[in-house]
Amino acid sequence: MKKIFAANWKLFKTPKETREFFTQFKEVSHKATGELVFFPSAISLEAASTSLAGTSIKWGAQNCHSQAQGAFTGENSAQVVKELGGSYVLIGHSERRKVFGETDAVIAEKVAFVQSLGLIPMLCIGETLEEREGLHTFRTLETQLHLGLAKADKSKPVVIAYEPVWAIGTGKVATPEQVAETHTDVFGILKALGFETTPILYGGSVKPDNAAGLIQQPHVNGFLVGGASLEVKSFIEIASV
Ligand code: PGA
Repeated sequence: MKKIFAANWKLFKTPKETREFFTQFKEVSHKATGELVFFPSAISLEAASTSLAGTSIKWGAQNCHSQAQGAFTGENSAQVVKELGGSYVLIGHSERRKVFGETDAVIAEKVAFVQSLGLIPMLCIGETLEEREGLHTFRTLETQLHLGLAKADKSKPVVIAYEPVWAIGTGKVATPEQVAETHTDVFGILKALGFETTPILYGGSVKPDNAAGLIQQPHVNGFLVGGASLEVKSFIEIASV
């Protein structure tokens, strides 16, 4: 399976900074050993679209509404992502779940809508520290996958990003053993649901110095990177493992 290296820029980088990043990044992007996907913040999407036109580098939005248009003040439209030439939409990131109260039911609607437009949903799942310590990791991931994929079309692509909430932005990366065990569980759950060819990315404090150890683990098909994706040097180092 081809690897995917995705960059989640969260609420960082203006359109100008986005253009400057890609001017430099395009010089080194040939070093990547898999598909590259960028998730800039909404207002910088058009800058990404223009900068990446004619390249094989993919991009998408960090969130979208479950309808193309309507009276939804402040929302993003996946239809706009499609029209601008994007390929992906990140769905159900833990910050969306926690800070913006997104439920698995809402997430399922978004996954289905994104697929219906011919875009690829990258569905994020992950347990909190409390859930891991309470030995509920498997149950949490099974519930998030079961509900999040409830309306998904198995004949269309979807990508899963497993991101333990306790490892996001904390510098506390999961150990290679934890990643191996959890990715094997995620693969098993996906297989039972009929999604066995779905790529599974790891996310949560991925850095150039831990990427090589993590990519070797079973069922790790790439990374979703936050902090270390904001600099050309660190992201291309990760994407060339
Ligand atoms: P991080 O973020 O790499 O900064 O931990 C990952 C993410 O939120 O997707």
